Amino acid sequence: MKKIVFPKEFLWGATTASYQIEGAAFEDGKGESIWDRFAHTPGRISDGTNGDVGCDHYHLYKDDIAIMKELGLQAYRLSISWPRIFPDGTGQPNAKGIEFYKNLLEELRANGIKTMVTLYHWDLPQTLQDKGGWVNRQIADDFELYARHVFEQLDGLVDWWITFNEPFCSAFLGYWKGVHAPGIQDYSSALAAAHHLLLAHGKAVRAFRETGTKGEIGITLNMDYYYPLNDCDEDRRAAELSHAAFNAWFADPIFKGKYPEAMLDFYRDKVVLPEIHESDLALISEKLDFLGLNHYFSDTNTPCPDKWPLGVKTDFIGGDRTDMGWGINPDGFYDLLMRLNKDYGDIPIYITENGCATRDIVNVRGEVEDHNRIDFLTRYISAAHRALKDGVNLKGYYQWSLLDNFEWSFGFSKRFGIVHVDYKTLKRTIKKSGRWYSEVIAENGF
Ligand code: FCB
Repeated sequence: MKKIVFPKEFLWGATTASYQIEGAAFEDGKGESIWDRFAHTPGRISDGTNGDVGCDHYHLYKDDIAIMKELGLQAYRLSISWPRIFPDGTGQPNAKGIEFYKNLLEELRANGIKTMVTLYHWDLPQTLQDKGGWVNRQIADDFELYARHVFEQLDGLVDWWITFNEPFCSAFLGYWKGVHAPGIQDYSSALAAAHHLLLAHGKAVRAFRETGTKGEIGITLNMDYYYPLNDCDEDRRAAELSHAAFNAWFADPIFKGKYPEAMLDFYRDKVVLPEIHESDLALISEKLDFLGLNHYFSDTNTPCPDKWPLGVKTDFIGGDRTDMGWGINPDGFYDLLMRLNKDYGDIPIYITENGCATRDIVNVRGEVEDHNRIDFLTRYISAAHRALKDGVNLKGYYQWSLLDNFEWSFGFSKRFGIVHVDYKTLKRTIKKSGRWYSEVIAENGF
């Protein structure tokens, strides 16, 4: 294999999210989030667990930062729990919540680790859900208030801000598939949620600029690459429809100031579209400093009338599957990056998540030999490097995830970490992939 070297200023990091690792779900004044409620609802989490304790990162954050330092991570992406800051969503802020993140960010700074902070990685205050959550347009203003408070309190401690993590998942998995909190199953609600997430994003970006907060700001979108199943017009149309419904539906308003026209027409006689004011799109397309991209897999697409509302059947590509059942197909990563570059121009891109779940055990020697993860990362990072060479403005790569953690509706049954966590003892063990990643960072390639 030939040597792969990244540009000197390329940034290497790892990512986590508040509800997945923090624990301390009811400590220091934190309010209930929709994930606290969802995980405590019988039947919602496949292994019956919840994030009450998680990786107990809330108490062990200094140990975790020591691990990051040992690995040589240049940057760390974390998210803020909104109900830690505003237990009721709005109203009185909770000083203890801000204190935790201040300490965390200062400790990262002291260890020379750059910080990327996501304002919303899915743990909405339950009180706001009780008022309709993302389906209620009012929430965009509530989010702006929360964002302004955090900008003011943490200004100077954050290098890159991200408004939302994967609004697609919040909207479509939370309000259409119902497999994520709040567990609603209604397509029109999902579209309303998507619009209000985008609106809230725009308001936060405007607030960021108005307040002169330091650092850069962007959003993280998750995207699959959608291929036609066969080389025929019907399948090509099906692939384009999926792309428009799930990728462009978010990226077009943000980078082009409009929803995909064909998609709006397609929906008109099938679902109720949310109210979209003219001024909404101007806000949603406020200029960003970068795009965060989360990518895990690609799919094939073919028409299937039973699959309402799109009428498209999608399947994973890749004979080899991860422990999530997701197909391994690094070419899709390359094709996706090239397409984004073609459709949205030279916007700087950070890969804010990429990685895989494998069945990891601590062996008799106390080691975790996760060769499949090393293989996965080698393939995907190589694909990213190819895209970079071919002109994509790729600035950095964050592996998902630093720690094994609470994988949403799969509970603790899926391990994505480069660091193993024993959930009984909370002991951390750096996996072989962690050691490997550490070398990649040190050599800026492999
Ligand atoms: C992404 C989420 C992240 C994690 C990975 C596996 O969709 O952003 O929290 O669950 O998938």
